[in-house]
Amino acid sequence: MPVVVVIGGQWGDEGKGRIVDLLARKARVVARYSAGNNAGHTIINDQGEFKLHLVPAGIFYPDKTCIIGNGCAVDPEVLLAEIGQLEERGVDTSKLVVSERAHVVMPWHRELDRLDELRRGDDAIGTTGKGIGPCFTDKVARRGIRIADLAEAEDLKDRMRNILDYQNKVITAVYGGEPLDFDECYTAYREFSNRLKPYVADVQKIILDATRNGDYVLLEGAQGSLLDLDHGTYEYVTSSVPSSTAAGSALGVGIGPTEITRAVGVFKSYCTRVGNGPFVTELFDDVSERLRNHGREFGRGEYGTTTGRPRRIGWFDAVAARYSVRFNGLSALVLTRLDVLQGLSTLKICTAYEIDGEIVDNMPANASVLNRARPVYEELEGWDGETSDVRNFDDLPKAAQAYIRRVEELLSTPVDVISVGPERQQAIIVNPMI
Ligand code: GDP
Ligand code: IMO
Ligand code: MG
Repeated sequence: MPVVVVIGGQWGDEGKGRIVDLLARKARVVARYSAGNNAGHTIINDQGEFKLHLVPAGIFYPDKTCIIGNGCAVDPEVLLAEIGQLEERGVDTSKLVVSERAHVVMPWHRELDRLDELRRGDDAIGTTGKGIGPCFTDKVARRGIRIADLAEAEDLKDRMRNILDYQNKVITAVYGGEPLDFDECYTAYREFSNRLKPYVADVQKIILDATRNGDYVLLEGAQGSLLDLDHGTYEYVTSSVPSSTAAGSALGVGIGPTEITRAVGVFKSYCTRVGNGPFVTELFDDVSERLRNHGREFGRGEYGTTTGRPRRIGWFDAVAARYSVRFNGLSALVLTRLDVLQGLSTLKICTAYEIDGEIVDNMPANASVLNRARPVYEELEGWDGETSDVRNFDDLPKAAQAYIRRVEELLSTPVDVISVGPERQQAIIVNPMI
């Protein structure tokens, strides 16, 4: 029965957490299927304002099972702290389940992330520094440690000693860093393992039981499709395996692709990006300043949820978005932060790139080519007046309606939900997707 995957269509921070919090009401299970605490999902509802890094956004409904899937990279210290903070604020986490197959972020992953960014210098990726890239690298290189391994005390000791031996050589000989202490790492991770034990289980069965029962399952994407290893702006991407795309979601919770019934893409009404890498529609003017600082007085400007870095800002890039719609097989779109565009006299949408004198309407593979691309813009009329209290499409200013219609046309996909504010109910539901 219905499994709906919600992905980010751009470079992350599109408002996935906020949308999953909205849609989760009708779901039985909400599962994260990729990435780690490089993600930061903001949710504002009647329980307060929360920034989640690992726990799925369904956690605010006490009757939902929330899953951290096998495709995730779990930093146990971060997860335990997040659980603690939620419980302290009265959020029940007893229905949280962590896959025994998820990979574990180890102290050397954080250190290698930091050292490799330093080594890259001007070519740094601009990672979140949470050790996620090195964790997935080790997963693929078959020297990862999984949640299930933490419970096997003796086996873990041997494995961890071997792996740390290797990693300490890399840290010292390749990067000139300081080696890490085995006993300290081992003791800490055994302790984390004991505290995580009540949450650990086989997640595949939970999801399949729900679908067989006809219940909705919501798969919560992290990051954005344009940060995907294969389809993103390589090498300025993230290292999640499986990827955060719709296709990655089945792998990341251990179900078949035929179980997925809908793929929904969340897009900001403009574009943002944190970290380095190509960004064809990037702005360095009054408009970007204005969009970045909208709501800043309430701590709600365009600053990274995980790192606090200012987000780079640009006009809506329909070339990149159309590409993302295609490789995710999206059946519906959500547009977020429409309210933020209010008060601009003119809006622009990028409909093609000019590269070395040629007009192209597809996404080139090379970062270097993308860096030479110049946006071809279409101009649309702006609108005045608050939209955050609007709940019906027809009540939006005509120019806002035209903007949304144009996005639908350019992406050949319907916009089913429009978010006009960060709070749960601040949305226009054109077509309920779940
Ligand atoms: P995620 O990583 O995709 O979940 O997104 P983030 O939480 O990192 O960033 C999205 C930001 O936009 C958060 O601060 C949200 O509270 C905020 N947000 C989401 N939707 C809206 C919206 O429609 N309007 C406004 N003003 N803010 C929104
Ligand atoms: P959510 O789920 C925005 C970016 C980093 C960097 C690149 C690689 O909140 O949308 P990494 O630490 O993953 O090795 O960094 O990927 N990045 C994100 N940007 N939102 C995210 O997650 C991101 N997760 C990773 O900024 O450019
Ligand atoms: Mg985020």
